[in-house]
Amino acid sequence: MSPSQRSGISPFFVMEVMKAAARRQELVGDVLHLEVGQPSTPAPAAALAAAASAMSGDRLGYTEATGLPSLRERIARLYTDRHGIDVDAGRVVVTVGASGGFTLAMLACFDAGDRVAMTEPGYAAYRNIMMALGLEVVPIPVGAATGFNPTVDHVRSALPLSGLVIASPSNPTGTVIGGELMASLTAFCREQGIRVVSDEIYHRITFGAEEVSALDYEAEAVVVQSFSKYQSMTGWRVGWLVAPDDLVAPIERLAQNLFISAPAISQHAALGSFDAVAELDDHVARYRVNRDLVVEGLKGMGFDRLAPADGAFYVWADVGDLGIDSQILCRRWLEETGVAVTPGIDFDPASGGRFVRFSYSESTADIAEAVRRLERWMASGR
Ligand SMILES: Cc1ncc(COP(=O)(O)O)c(C=O)c1O
Repeated sequence: MSPSQRSGISPFFVMEVMKAAARRQELVGDVLHLEVGQPSTPAPAAALAAAASAMSGDRLGYTEATGLPSLRERIARLYTDRHGIDVDAGRVVVTVGASGGFTLAMLACFDAGDRVAMTEPGYAAYRNIMMALGLEVVPIPVGAATGFNPTVDHVRSALPLSGLVIASPSNPTGTVIGGELMASLTAFCREQGIRVVSDEIYHRITFGAEEVSALDYEAEAVVVQSFSKYQSMTGWRVGWLVAPDDLVAPIERLAQNLFISAPAISQHAALGSFDAVAELDDHVARYRVNRDLVVEGLKGMGFDRLAPADGAFYVWADVGDLGIDSQILCRRWLEETGVAVTPGIDFDPASGGRFVRFSYSESTADIAEAVRRLERWMASGR
């Protein structure tokens, strides 16, 4: 007997960086974490208060597979408030993070063997989940020429396709798909019968860029969302999908069988987080300051080929001119400066050796110190 072939997917290499960073923290104690893909803050106070109140007053059993009706209603209202569009609460499904939501969406939309495209660089787990589900992942290599975004020409050259996964703002590039591009991508996909799955998990973490949802243009799109990033609730494992009417029952059947429901306590906390806008917007203001420090710092060091860092909390930098593979570079930066960053290989198996991802979600003091250490390292002649 042997493990299934489908489980032979790539590991998440960033975990290796995190392990090495933890080891150095134990031995030397000076690590600055620019490798982590999560907020450095806990859940907002209003979410914690809602969780505490649910713990004392609620049974916290299973919820409906689609989530607490009050939470679904509140999420639906977001689309009216933020986007001026009407989303019926019946189209919202509360999920175990975006990760659980993405898995449900893929299972509900596609059959094994279907061709589904995603950008390279792109979020590694999506590629790996799709491969484990038996989908054919069609990479769309994107680069500086299109601001690291996919275009209609890219999608056309990847045909035939059953699906297209997009993410805005993107991990690892931080780039944002604006209204004009979203309109053209969704229109082309509609014409070709391609299902758009839009990861909008970094919405609200943008720095002046136009923030549109795929739903603004395409009611047949499936939106994947989460409380992990803007709401700073990664460990609570709660997110949501917005799906067209005819996909809700299939998603519900899958959710009943795969997960039963998202954790009840997390759903109560998530509901509370809607009252935390000021606290959460303070985090975004800090991300913006940190983003500027990293971008300016890197440019000063001569790394001027950066993806437009318009959202999320990442800078995707081309470090190819150093002539050092990014996995080796990241190991050396950790060993020689205590700065942990992520090599590009997770996100782009083809060209990731030239790129690194800087995450700037930690404190501004830590980010400023990391930039200083890398500046010294660069100035020391390596
Ligand atoms: C683009 C993107 N989508 C999805 C996820 C998974 O998020 P969740 O914690 O909601 O499962 C992440 C996490 O880093 C991400 O960066």
